Amino acid sequence: MQSELEEKRKMMAKLEKVPQPEFEGVSYPSFMPFRKKGAKNVIEDIMNVKSRDSDIIICTYAKSGTHWTYEIVNMLLKNTTELDNKSKMQGMLEAVEDLTVLEGVPSPRIMDTHCLFKYLPKQHKEKKVKIVHMIRNPKDVCVSYYYHCLKDVFINFDGTWEEFFELFMSGKQPYGSWYNYELEMERAADDFPETIFTCYYEDMKKDPVREIKKLADFLGTPCSDDTLEKIAKETSFGNMQKNKFDITVIVDGKGFIYRKGEIGDWKNHFTVAQNEKFDAQYKEEMKDSKYKITFE
Ligand code: A3P
Repeated sequence: MQSELEEKRKMMAKLEKVPQPEFEGVSYPSFMPFRKKGAKNVIEDIMNVKSRDSDIIICTYAKSGTHWTYEIVNMLLKNTTELDNKSKMQGMLEAVEDLTVLEGVPSPRIMDTHCLFKYLPKQHKEKKVKIVHMIRNPKDVCVSYYYHCLKDVFINFDGTWEEFFELFMSGKQPYGSWYNYELEMERAADDFPETIFTCYYEDMKKDPVREIKKLADFLGTPCSDDTLEKIAKETSFGNMQKNKFDITVIVDGKGFIYRKGEIGDWKNHFTVAQNEKFDAQYKEEMKDSKYKITFE
């Protein structure tokens, strides 16, 4: 697999820059499926994926810990304490060129997407199949996304931190507004409380054993305290950074997914004025939300 991925990277590095694909006012990274069939068809194809009762979809806003969640969910479902030799990218709905390949994937299938809840496979919602949603404080998301956008060949951004901050505030970044995504997810979780499990990046970081246990209860994959400890250790940032093959090594020979993995890196980036501006917007946008998001 290693050499296939190397080839893929070389190919990606040579990609011609194209405008960010767009659909219904939201732009997307220009992954291959978007280039080939356009954003409208990508979304339509996702909505038409044939679901199985045992499917799990990991739903996250970009940079909220998707790779991490994938590993934990994979370990729980496959009853293993070893990192997967595959990448979560293989089940990323908007990045899979031909979604019918998912039909050949053995159950339980783990898929993931940053697309809005309204674009999830229709059958998945109708059948009320499980969704694992991880949410991260948006200040750290913003910083993490800034570094990601600087390096990702599928995203046309080479500006400053100040420019990215303003882009994030305007909700015009790829995948659109963080608020729009998370508030839609919150409404969906209110409507389908048994179907959608929300975990918080910060809680997972502070007490992984406790949080992995909650996730295991939701998935119906109970495991011993010893196994929980092992999963927490294997999926720790340090271990994943060291041992997980990072498909995003496409620009300068270094991966950019496992960057810092900390809570509160925003404090090293936000100016006082930016923080005040962000807080005012957050207060207004989240005034009716029940999320318990912590920033440190
Ligand atoms: P930073 O850029 O702040 O380091 P995603 O997988 O959704 O793209 O999210 C990437 C973010 O999750 C990055 O944040 C990355 O370092 C962090 N991350 C990845 N694995 C992690 C882990 N095991 N523990 C904590 N954070 C992790």
